[in-house]
Amino acid sequence: MPSRLKDKWVLITGASSGFGAAASRAFGAEGAKVLLGARRLDRLEQVTLEARQAGAAEAHFHVLDVSQTASVETFVAWAKVQISRAPTADAGLHVLINNAGGAQGLDSVLAGKDEDWEVMMQSNVLGVLRMTRAAVPLMPHHLGATILNIGSLAGRVAYEGGAAYCAAKAGELQITRCLRLELNGTGIRVSSIDPGLARTEFATVRFKGDEARVNKLYEGTQPLVAEDIAEILVWVASRPPHVNIDEMLIKPVDQAAIHKVFRRQ
Ligand SMILES: NC(=O)c1ccc[n+]([C@@H]2O[C@H](COP(=O)([O-])OP(=O)(O)OC[C@H]3O[C@@H](n4cnc5c(N)ncnc54)[C@H](OP(=O)(O)O)[C@@H]3O)[C@@H](O)[C@H]2O)c1
Repeated sequence: MPSRLKDKWVLITGASSGFGAAASRAFGAEGAKVLLGARRLDRLEQVTLEARQAGAAEAHFHVLDVSQTASVETFVAWAKVQISRAPTADAGLHVLINNAGGAQGLDSVLAGKDEDWEVMMQSNVLGVLRMTRAAVPLMPHHLGATILNIGSLAGRVAYEGGAAYCAAKAGELQITRCLRLELNGTGIRVSSIDPGLARTEFATVRFKGDEARVNKLYEGTQPLVAEDIAEILVWVASRPPHVNIDEMLIKPVDQAAIHKVFRRQ
């Protein structure tokens, strides 16, 4: 059976690394048409090439900073131009993946820095709102179009030093739930995909390049890899159009709970 995603337009934010880059390749392998955004253009160019090599019917990239409304609007206007070149009836945006985001620091609330909190709220919360507001008008109704928001285990369980990130991802989860109510009757599906410990550039960003701290986080344990999440995003987006996967929590088997991670000696 041909993939339900073949020739469908898929927009991925934060496509320059980690889950977003892996999703670009995975949707590409389904024969989808991918529109990729992030701030690092050199990385995006490389991922675009990889998506084409994986089998994408089309792959294009454009600079995107989800923390800036003007950048989001320019990006979506560009995406609309790309999509309008496709002559098929369901040529709208089929999948929107709100993936751009991450954590900054692991400070307690008392030691927290405004600049870290602001970055986390801007990308993980306001970025999702802005992108969704701009892109949903491009999505066709009653054809299985899907919004996939990347949440986190952190949005469901608190941990020391995680206050702003946990709050931001709890915000993402509630945005997803509100949106599902607001879009009821349109046939547009809305999901929150919430990973636990995964090895991407996430920890390098969180610890501001301190690789000793990054290595300690993953020491002796087997985290998820970006491809694990990309595979799930493809699966969720390719369910029959009447099926909505509301929320999915994915953890490595070594992570029984946020504070209980098995580590080999
Ligand atoms: N890895 C984990 O353990 C884990 C677990 C649960 C959830 N998550 C979530 O998964 C998502 C992807 O993270 P990842 O693990 O793949 O980390 P990553 O490798 O650091 O990727 C983060 C991506 O987000 C982009 N990004 C960040 N801020 C942006 C902005 N203002 N505008 C546009 N793009 C922006 C980055 O691109 P540029 O820097 O090029 O803009 C990059 O492509 C994030 O929402 C993260 O919070 C990660």
